[in-house]
Amino acid sequence: MALQLSTDELLTTTRTVRKRLDFEKPVSRQIIQDCLDLALQAPNGSNLQQWRWLVVDDPERIGRLAALYNEAIAEYSKQYIEEGFSKAPGVDPAFDRMNESVAHLAENLHRSPALVIPCMPGRMENAGIFDQSSQWGSLLPAIWSFMLALRSRGLGSAWTTVHLHREKEAAELLGIPEGRWTQAGLFPVAYTLGNDFKRAPRKTAESVIRWNGW
Ligand SMILES: Cc1cc2nc3c(=O)[nH]c(=O)nc-3n(C[C@H](O)[C@H](O)[C@H](O)COP(=O)(O)O)c2cc1C
Repeated sequence: MALQLSTDELLTTTRTVRKRLDFEKPVSRQIIQDCLDLALQAPNGSNLQQWRWLVVDDPERIGRLAALYNEAIAEYSKQYIEEGFSKAPGVDPAFDRMNESVAHLAENLHRSPALVIPCMPGRMENAGIFDQSSQWGSLLPAIWSFMLALRSRGLGSAWTTVHLHREKEAAELLGIPEGRWTQAGLFPVAYTLGNDFKRAPRKTAESVIRWNGW
C-alpha cells in the first residue's frame, strides 16, 4: 500500500537503508516489477532503453553475491584506510554510525529478500567523457526512481557499488555475457522497519551554486 508522502517528503526522506531493512518479510516479484515499471519512465539517451535489470531472489544466488560483496568490502576497506579516507573511531560520530551501518548491511546482505543489479550495455574503460556521461546518464536516473518507488510503498534499498570489485565474478555467477555489459551497482530490496525516515544533513544549495559562472 502506498505511503501518504508529499513529493518533497519522498525526495528528502529516501535514504540508504541498511539497519532498518526487514530481512524477514518476503517481497513479492509483483511489487519489484511495479516499482521498475515506474522507474523505467526515467529519461535515457535517445530513449534507447538499453538497460537490463537483474533481479535475484533465489536465496542461494543471493548468498553467493553477498559473499562476493563481503570479499569486496574487505578489500576496499584496506584500500580506503591506505588512501587516508578513514577516520579514527570517536573523531566523527556520523562517520562511525555510517561505518557501523555499512558493516551491518554487509553482515546481513545474504538475508535480503532480493538483490537488484541494473546493467547497461558496453564497457567504458576507454570511453570518452561524452560516451561515459551518456551511458551512466541513461541508467542512474532510473535507479534513483526505483529507490523512490520502493520508498513510496514502504520498502527500501541501499545504493551500493562495492561489489564491483568482484564484478567479473558476479557476472559469471549470473551469466552476464563477458565484456558486453556493465553492472552499475547492487541494490538490496526489502520492506523497511518503520517508515519514519528523516531528511539528511547536506550542504545547502546556496553554498554550492555559482550564478552565471564558476
Ligand atoms: C555511488 C554510490 C556508491 C555507494 N556505495 C555504497 C556501498 O558500496 N555500500 C554501502 O553500504 N553504501 C554505499 N553507498 C551509500 C552511501 O554511503 C550513502 O548514500 C551516503 O552515506 C548518504 O546517505 P543517504 O543515502 O542515506 O543520504 C553508496 C552511495 C552511492 C551514491
